[in-house]
Amino acid sequence: MSNAEGGFQRYLAAKRTVDDRALDRHVLDRLATEVERLDDEIGERPLRVLDVGAGTGATLERLAERDVLPAAVEYTLVDREAANVDAARERLPQWAADAGHDVTEVDDGLRIANDDRRIEIGFAVADAFEHVGRDTWDLLVGQAFLDLFDTRHAFDALREALAPGGCWYFPITFDGGTVLSPPVDPTLDDRIERAFHAHIDDGGDSHAGRHLLAHATETSEVLAAGGSDWVVHPRSGAYPADEGFFLRYIVDTIAGALDETDEFDPATLAGWAAARHRQIDRGELTYVAHQLDVLGRVPAER
Ligand SMILES: C[S@@+](CC[C@H](N)C(=O)[O-])C[C@H]1O[C@@H](n2cnc3c(N)ncnc32)[C@H](O)[C@@H]1O
Repeated sequence: MSNAEGGFQRYLAAKRTVDDRALDRHVLDRLATEVERLDDEIGERPLRVLDVGAGTGATLERLAERDVLPAAVEYTLVDREAANVDAARERLPQWAADAGHDVTEVDDGLRIANDDRRIEIGFAVADAFEHVGRDTWDLLVGQAFLDLFDTRHAFDALREALAPGGCWYFPITFDGGTVLSPPVDPTLDDRIERAFHAHIDDGGDSHAGRHLLAHATETSEVLAAGGSDWVVHPRSGAYPADEGFFLRYIVDTIAGALDETDEFDPATLAGWAAARHRQIDRGELTYVAHQLDVLGRVPAER
């Protein structure tokens, strides 16, 4: 079973409005306060930010638009998929120009600047866990990322690369709730949700949000945490922006993942996905995914 036409980059673009609604503002405000503190502490040099699993660069855009970033920033986007990094390289100049920045190509990256701020953007196609050790970072950002791994190991490996007193921010971290409503067949729907979470647990973590929160409380200082559930619902029978595509992609991802297991008859799975698609066509489907945003700081002395 393949994902809805348009691919992963369109999915990332479509999830932008969903994330915008979901992100916890209190956690984001606290991040802005911490970035100000870090910026004061580091003096003249730019703040060094690493965005792990950066996708096509949505988090950079958001942090700039919401004035979380200080006057001078070196912001590196790392993603293991070249197609995502290529899409980020392509998209960010237009986004920056539209936002009134001057845009300059520098070496292998991009410099965007306006009267208040200069951001040197670096791009890396690499495994984040290898790339993170190449420098010392003031801020690590990983949106919708930690649930792809064993949360505790991934968190420990990443935070090691933070400068003393540095911060980490892991928003939109999946935490084990997938609600699709109205039902197709309540018994089948429940089995599919359970099997999908079990599939995530095979290499990843379907309860990454709570595991991060608990583990980080033991090993680090959690500064703020909040819920960032995705809630996608129709308005007068239609979905805003590209959220209909987002829903199709989610349905196909679930069905595609379970198609790889032998737990479901392929025809049953295909029928389920087709029924969900019809609900989307009719503007009936509501989707909720439970997630957490967590922000923390490593000790100033290590
Ligand atoms: C769910 S997407 C989130 C993308 C982006 N942070 C966002 O929220 O729009 C997860 C991203 O992590 C990337 N990824 C997965 N494993 C990775 C790894 N080991 N190193 C670097 N990137 C990775 C994927 O290619 C994908 O772009």
